[in-house]
Amino acid sequence: MAQPKQDTAVRPLLNEEFPWDTFDSEWYLRHNYGVMRDDDQDILMRLAEFFSGLREPKLLRGIDVGTGTNLYPVFALLPLCSQITMYERAKTNCGWLARETARHTDIGIWQPYWDVLSKWPLYAPIRDPQWAVHERTRVNRGSIFDLPKSAYDIGTMFFCAESITERGDEFARATRCFLRSLRPNAPFAAAFMRNSHGYEVNGVHFPAVAITADDVQKCLHSEGIRKASVINIDSANPLRDGVGMVLVTGRIARR
Ligand SMILES: C[S@@+](CC[C@H](N)C(=O)[O-])C[C@H]1O[C@@H](n2cnc3c(N)ncnc32)[C@H](O)[C@@H]1O
Repeated sequence: MAQPKQDTAVRPLLNEEFPWDTFDSEWYLRHNYGVMRDDDQDILMRLAEFFSGLREPKLLRGIDVGTGTNLYPVFALLPLCSQITMYERAKTNCGWLARETARHTDIGIWQPYWDVLSKWPLYAPIRDPQWAVHERTRVNRGSIFDLPKSAYDIGTMFFCAESITERGDEFARATRCFLRSLRPNAPFAAAFMRNSHGYEVNGVHFPAVAITADDVQKCLHSEGIRKASVINIDSANPLRDGVGMVLVTGRIARR
């Protein structure tokens, strides 16, 4: 992990030391997802390809961890899942998710994201994605560190484990908690910010650990996951100077 920019005598802060319940959901939504970015589009295409290659015999119980106000992982999971839990700590984001998914019609800003996914035949049976999100999702307020073990058949986690703490050990623990919430051999996809030192949401600072693909790979190996795809995703116009993304797709170890 890259060294923090600040004086190393300053104690890196823990997840619980940040004001998650003040997270400005609408601001974050507009800033990050109001216009589809090239890196998100790249990730969506890779998600659709990965999910299209799965041959699961039945509909699955899915989870997206640290959903915030990003619904594109949930849209990507839709054809594979009978139910999807959106698991999130911040009260504001849980409220936003409940309101957003109460709507039956009008996909709103997610239309271009759905347009990317719907080029794959896997997505053709979902004729009304907003209705499917309304029908199949539920919001669960909770911390990643309290996730139940082996409880879900498929999972996604986007920009969560590395973007909720300043501590490298807490990033690794959060990633392990996500992976352990899935049953053996469950497929999963996770995205991480690379080299992020934190972010502002409407003037409030939130943390990050400046991880690389190697740090993610170490977490996967510690869970016995050796065959996952771990790739850097770059943008012509990154979200912040010097940052990039890492995308992982794979399966939990059989144990
Ligand atoms: C950088 S945002 C990512 C949001 C969204 N997944 C995305 O792709 O944009 C980090 C999210 O993690 C949530 N979070 C913070 N601490 C958490 C915890 N202990 N457990 C679960 N979620 C947490 C935040 O409220 C926020 O929604």
